[in-house]
Amino acid sequence: MTYTSDDRARLGLRESATFDRATIAAIQRAAETGIYDIRGWGAKRPLPHFDDLLFLGASMSRYPLEGYRERCATDVVLGDRFAKSPLHLDIPVTIAGMSFGALSGPAKEALGRGASEVGTSTTTGDGGMTPEERGQSKHLVYQYLPSRYGMNPDDLRKADAIEIVLGQGAKPGGGGMLLGQKISERVAGMRTLPQGIDQRSACRHPDWTGPDDLTIKINELREITDWCKPVYVKVGATRTYYDVKLAVHAGADVVVVDGMQGGTAATQDVFIEHVGIPTLAAIPQAVQALQELGVHRRVQLIVSGGIRNGADVAKALALGADAVAIGTAALIALGDNHPRYAAEYQKIGSAAGFYDDYQDGNDPAGISTQDPELSARFDPVAGGHRLANYLRVLTMEAQTIARACGKSHVCHLEPDDLVAVSIEAAAMARVPLAGTDWIPGT
Ligand SMILES: Cc1cc2nc3c(=O)[nH]c(=O)nc-3n(C[C@H](O)[C@H](O)[C@H](O)COP(=O)(O)O)c2cc1C
Repeated sequence: MTYTSDDRARLGLRESATFDRATIAAIQRAAETGIYDIRGWGAKRPLPHFDDLLFLGASMSRYPLEGYRERCATDVVLGDRFAKSPLHLDIPVTIAGMSFGALSGPAKEALGRGASEVGTSTTTGDGGMTPEERGQSKHLVYQYLPSRYGMNPDDLRKADAIEIVLGQGAKPGGGGMLLGQKISERVAGMRTLPQGIDQRSACRHPDWTGPDDLTIKINELREITDWCKPVYVKVGATRTYYDVKLAVHAGADVVVVDGMQGGTAATQDVFIEHVGIPTLAAIPQAVQALQELGVHRRVQLIVSGGIRNGADVAKALALGADAVAIGTAALIALGDNHPRYAAEYQKIGSAAGFYDDYQDGNDPAGISTQDPELSARFDPVAGGHRLANYLRVLTMEAQTIARACGKSHVCHLEPDDLVAVSIEAAAMARVPLAGTDWIPGT
């Protein structure tokens, strides 16, 4: 049917499913500026996720544990395969690596304070280790990244574990970006690069080209740290089954798998939305790889990418993870999006709870900025308490679910406790569609 312009005026604008308003706006923006869109946060498109799974609470065929009377433990040991000093954490929720540069000094300190208050670990990031962060973190994981920004052997020895970063879920195969406005004198000094100039982080380690070199690198790091520190290997979720097998062969104590919903400090929007696989799809691949090598639970699996509440934590553990890591949710918990800054958020085109322009350095709450005035607004002690509260809630929620499934430890949750509410989620998570015994693809 052909419409005249009169018909169209009468019917109103008819939106196209292919060229919807957002698509039109994106084309117009690209045409106007000639540059691609950069932002922080993770994939925003709808994807199969933990919400598509449900727990089968116990009743007759399984026996639940009593909430306030029966213990449900939450402790976890990470890195006891080869390291002399593995990490003993009180809860299976850790803080993911986020760079000093993307985040302010007080924000990094608050992450350490919050994690330590509840007995878990936090992680450095691109740009190195700050003294505040080291000082306030009971368990600090030191990232060894392709960029080597801020990397030095003394800090390796000061850390409690080392995480070799091969990739991130938000941008597997891609590097990072830190725009010039965030390269303050301190950030520049730690990275030994000039102030105020955009910095790109490399997408691959400069001195190795494949899995054999990774073995050598892990051994070097073990020698430098006297075989004490656990060595983690972090990968962005893509060909997870093979990547996990290679990481284990190379000698990792712990494998970290970061799904495509995982946050980033800044990268191209097109990358965040179109590269990688969902967290839900990555976990069973990782677990299968570990099981086939006979090291599931001996090489621990940490999962990240879109973890928001205790149900997400419990579901990741039930699918076979030993612990999870959180980034975006930790920043929100720190107070990043407090409504008292609503007017200022509005001015920069954002809103409390939605701020994702980490790269601009204009964060009114002083968390993802290097502006001295803005970062001075953020109180690391109060922020640390908020984070600790949030981590407690995540843990208690996961315990509640574990007890309901009859488990005396959150890590005793198993795929058998789960069903899926969509065929996609059932196929990816490899659990049955609710009410059936059908696991698509098996
Ligand atoms: C502000 C910010 C900075 C980050 N910086 C790093 C980094 O330096 N190194 C790294 O491996 N991952 C980095 N990440 C990714 C996190 O380590 C983690 O993989 C991700 O945030 C997990 O997903 P979630 O944000 O949904 O919890 C960063 C994430 C955010 C939000």
